[in-house]
Amino acid sequence: MGAMTRRDFLRAGVATGVSLAMPHFIFAQETHGPKVVRTATDRFELVLPKQPRLRILQIADTHFGTPNPINRLKDKSSYTLIKELVATHKPDYVFHTGDFINNDNENVEWGAIPFMDDLGVPWSVSFGNHDHPNGKKGQKSLEEYYATLNNSVVGYAERSAGARDYCYRVDFRVEGQKPFSSVFAFNTGNPASGMKVNDTQTQWFLNHMDADKSANVQTPVLVMQHIPTIEYKDVFDQKLAVGRQGETVCFEIDKGEIFNQYVNSGRVRAIFCGHDHVNDYIGELKKVKLVYGRCSGYSGYGDWERGARLIEVDTATGRGTSRVVLGKAEKEKPEWRSTLTDSVVS
Ligand SMILES: [Fe+2]
Repeated sequence: MGAMTRRDFLRAGVATGVSLAMPHFIFAQETHGPKVVRTATDRFELVLPKQPRLRILQIADTHFGTPNPINRLKDKSSYTLIKELVATHKPDYVFHTGDFINNDNENVEWGAIPFMDDLGVPWSVSFGNHDHPNGKKGQKSLEEYYATLNNSVVGYAERSAGARDYCYRVDFRVEGQKPFSSVFAFNTGNPASGMKVNDTQTQWFLNHMDADKSANVQTPVLVMQHIPTIEYKDVFDQKLAVGRQGETVCFEIDKGEIFNQYVNSGRVRAIFCGHDHVNDYIGELKKVKLVYGRCSGYSGYGDWERGARLIEVDTATGRGTSRVVLGKAEKEKPEWRSTLTDSVVS
């Protein structure tokens, strides 16, 4: 299929009734970022021009869309901050680790989706517990919500006939070369599946690891999931983390199953989560970095300076670092500046 914009494609799909989930579809993202190639319902490639580093901006917990005057103002502040961070750090890719929108208990407004599309950078979201699968009565279900993410990089695995798990992978490569790293994204926000990486998602992950092994692919993996694993508590308790803990680690019902699989894979270098707005640290257990994203949204709880997390990955080696970034108006207290310094994440 020749180059066409994704909007063109969606229009064509609607007009002809062709499935939008066809593999090997290449669309020219309507952005200045890398070319996005969708190779399966659960798989994308981000193809970069020749450049030394990939920059990913992780944003978290924006809780957009609550329809009252105060929250509308707060959302505007979040928009301003995110736009500024994108302009300053020029990411190739923006990853939102969930609680994007509050459709669970609000008659939510959906302006945040065009806002994200208009950033001019490919973007993804791993759904959080406020990105509710059914929504408040009368609100969009997750399937309807997903259908509105017209210009995003969000996929799904088929769980069983007609049922989707919103887990997917994004492989990063330089044009003409093989991938140097991947993101694996999980939906941990679904109360019905337990608000953790569930068994079917774990099996999906293992299937990908097996397929990669057969293809002799051993590149580093970065995981994106809204809810932290239980090891986020362990790593802080064991004083193996740098940064601040402002609240109990809300790992929900996770018992450590998925972390063991991440470790056993030998490829997962780091987990990036959100969920706990006033936890902000990086630690390491069993050679896996456990990283909190910085809360980016003023509509969520917490009184810390809002910001984001910049991840920079060497396109030759797949090795990367990460640090928290704040807006120009945001001033971190001197004693809390440790997370503003680069830490190795892969
Ligand atoms: Fe949140």
